[in-house]
Amino acid sequence: MNIILFGPPGAGKGTQGERLAGHYTMLRLSTGDLLREAVRKGTPLGLEARRTMDAGELVPDAVILGLVKEVMAGQREGTGVIFDGFPRTVSQAEGLSTLLAGLGLRLDAVLLLDVADDAIVRRLSGRLFCPSCQAVYNLYSEPPAVPGICDRCGAALSQRDDDREETVRRRLAVYREQTAPVVAWYRARQVPVHVVAGDRDINEVQADLVRILAR
Ligand code: AP5
Repeated sequence: MNIILFGPPGAGKGTQGERLAGHYTMLRLSTGDLLREAVRKGTPLGLEARRTMDAGELVPDAVILGLVKEVMAGQREGTGVIFDGFPRTVSQAEGLSTLLAGLGLRLDAVLLLDVADDAIVRRLSGRLFCPSCQAVYNLYSEPPAVPGICDRCGAALSQRDDDREETVRRRLAVYREQTAPVVAWYRARQVPVHVVAGDRDINEVQADLVRILAR
């Protein structure tokens, strides 16, 4: 099974992607995580991507497709993939389609997490992450047991640079302009698109996604 977790910034793609990857033993391929890893390591790609990400804009399609191809080349046969935050443009969707066809794979579904803009801005203002083990928390919905400290590894928690309100608003505008049209592209190609209300309890959203995938 190969699926896309789709939706605006902060819709819960990473949260649900991790849970589904554990539930089904699938690979979660997050282009945002790959880019943040390159930023942390200070690679040339990371240095270039950082400026784009901090501005809330999209990293060029060719760069993203190169990253995805690299991961997919090392993919074990039979393990499904959850694409998280990719594709984000029609050109990326076309690239993914060519890549999967070349590997003899197909896309089974697009799961679209739907959350209103104001809820997203509030949610992302409360997001914290662990720079050491990458665990994600939220001050409003999933706070750490000890304020500011990672439950898993005890490191001090941080905020993502692109979670400032003006950057979140720009990311939402970019989503509407460049990413939302990808849904129509898949519908036109008869790939099932399931819209799931993402503004509910995290466990309820997960249960809905599992129900859909079980079909
Ligand atoms: P990326 O990291 O992909 O960011 P994003 O898509 O904007 O998504 P987020 O990671 O912000 O949110 P999410 O939907 O994963 O939500 P999460 O589960 O964390 O990309 C970052 C940047 O990299 C982009 O802006 C771009 O520059 C670049 N980039 C990445 N991919 C690219 C591509 N393909 N092409 C070009 N550029 C690319 O949840 C958010 C918070 O809410 C958390 O605190 C969580 O705990 C909480 N939460 C989750 N679910 C719920 C719920 N149901 N109720 C309450 N709180 C919840």
